[in-house]
Amino acid sequence: MKVDVIVAPTFLKKDDLKGCLCAVIDVLRATSTIITALVSGAAEVRPCLTVEEAKKGVAKLPRDSYLLGGEDMGKNIPGSDLGNSPLEYMSEEVVRGKVIYSYTSNGTGAIRKAYAGCGRPVYIAALINVSAASATLVKAAAGAQGKGIAIVCAGRYGGPSTEDFFCAGMMVDLIGRGLNKHGIEIQLSDTASVASDLAAANRGNGLGVLTSSEHGRFLESIGFSDDLIFASRIDLYNVVPVFDGKRVILPPQK
Ligand code: MLT
Repeated sequence: MKVDVIVAPTFLKKDDLKGCLCAVIDVLRATSTIITALVSGAAEVRPCLTVEEAKKGVAKLPRDSYLLGGEDMGKNIPGSDLGNSPLEYMSEEVVRGKVIYSYTSNGTGAIRKAYAGCGRPVYIAALINVSAASATLVKAAAGAQGKGIAIVCAGRYGGPSTEDFFCAGMMVDLIGRGLNKHGIEIQLSDTASVASDLAAANRGNGLGVLTSSEHGRFLESIGFSDDLIFASRIDLYNVVPVFDGKRVILPPQK
């Protein structure tokens, strides 16, 4: 089975994802935040392609049923309830039962693009659920789903981002070992193999990868150092949210 890593959605070619099992990573910070919101009891997250789409989405809902969140080029969306720091979504009191409409500069669009490309539910991954996300992909692949596995990094403004690529590399290794146990042979794409090398070279140094990355340095410069510490916590959660084309939810635990 082929395992591929896409460094940013702009690198996707037509049909690259068709029929694949697909996960999307935006360690800093969209997928880390979505996972956290759902763990804290949010009903669902609606990843939007534009700020306007998010605003339009909430406009038709009762005021106490939703939260508008995310960021646009690092800044909170005017009139929003929350930004895009995962720490803001840790309070059950704030998010429990809410429908969260979110637009972020790279992550929410990557989720939508991945779904459009693969035509099947998309798994939401980050360092905070890296083992669970990898195990879910292995289980689905071993159940003969998908013609391959594609890990899509949200990247940064059309280019790569080290933290997403690092997380993707960890997933490549975990998926490889998992599929081997099922007797499934894997073929890594060149990007998957380079991601795996990056992860191996930085084993145990997740926070170092985040703090030295471009986006990590940017977030530190605008006061979000704690987000880097949080987003680097490997396997903090054992859940894997799924985007079904409309909303991201936590599937019921079996
Ligand atoms: C994005 O989608 O680009 C981000 O998640 C940016 C951020 O909130 O740091």
